[in-house]
Amino acid sequence: MTPDSAPHPTDVRAGSPAVAAALAAALSAAVASAGLAPSIHNTQPWQWRMTGDSLDLHLEPSRLLDVADPDARLATLSCGAALHHARVSLAAQGWRATVTRIPDPAHPEHLAHLQADGPARVDPPTVRRAQAIRLRHTDRRPLSGPRIGPDELRAITRAVQAEGTSLHVLSRDQVIDLATAADHAHHTELHEARWQAELAYWTGGTRPTGTGIPDTAIPARPPQTTVPGRDFGHHGDLPIGDGHDRTATFAILYGHADQPLDWLHAGEALSAAWLTATEIGASLLPLSATIEMISTRQAMRVLLSSVGYPHLVLRLGTVNPNDARPDHAPRLPTDQIIDSS
Ligand SMILES: Cc1cc2nc3c(=O)[nH]c(=O)nc-3n(C[C@H](O)[C@H](O)[C@H](O)COP(=O)(O)O)c2cc1C
Repeated sequence: MTPDSAPHPTDVRAGSPAVAAALAAALSAAVASAGLAPSIHNTQPWQWRMTGDSLDLHLEPSRLLDVADPDARLATLSCGAALHHARVSLAAQGWRATVTRIPDPAHPEHLAHLQADGPARVDPPTVRRAQAIRLRHTDRRPLSGPRIGPDELRAITRAVQAEGTSLHVLSRDQVIDLATAADHAHHTELHEARWQAELAYWTGGTRPTGTGIPDTAIPARPPQTTVPGRDFGHHGDLPIGDGHDRTATFAILYGHADQPLDWLHAGEALSAAWLTATEIGASLLPLSATIEMISTRQAMRVLLSSVGYPHLVLRLGTVNPNDARPDHAPRLPTDQIIDSS
């Protein structure tokens, strides 16, 4: 549906059957876009319910990481990214929506209620942002292009702040502290059999259809980096050059509290930052190992001088535009992530 072709009454609840059908198509398209959001290990831990003119977002219990993410912190963050994708998609289709986050504290797995309110003007930046949804992807190769510039960093920071979250760019010394913490987190996790089994279930060769990280997205050999990326416990098929990550900028996405609502906002901010980075040709890689363990999460909090709570580490930079980009990770079909009634 194009914004021009959609009928737009002032109040969608008083609309005609044609309006209801147009809105149902827009909500379905928003869920399809949300399905392309990034998620921890590509678990896609979301389930949507569509009722008339609204959507409800729930954590999907069968796609949570019990070992690496026992509080569903990173799953909630992933769902926040999906929620932001849905918001962007609806706006680009010419619909205004109101979002109520964690509407019932007695049911914290019900993460958001999104109510379509009526027509919205569609401007070119909104369309560009929605187009970035299909282009965004995770690139784990070393950053071989120039360092990200101040204008790009400002644009990404503004996108994060617009979602009520903050970004702290690490100094050179702090990057060394981050590298030490990441090394410690990987070392500890890889020595835990349950953690290894969970990682093996979601990555590489044989895994649930439509989910997980394929070998084509995992580097064929360890990239040369100051801050180690995720150690998947095996090498994949993604060719990487001899470059070193020297031009990478590292930042911590943080908030003022550390509750599910803050994780949801952080996920929305992650999506906003990543779509902005995609639009301006920058690369963004989330690094969550230091957030997964209490001790290294505390080390990240020290890097923030305790002014906030760390939600995710981001690697920012540019890749050589001549390098072929990795394939998209698989996705569940939309009809498996939406229930209609
Ligand atoms: C909360 C969160 C944490 C993530 N942590 C890591 C990480 O530590 N290392 C990594 O290589 N990718 C990480 N990712 C990227 C996911 O693996 C990626 O989004 C997923 O495999 C889907 O692939 P796509 O982003 O290319 O669509 C993370 C993503 C999210 C949303």
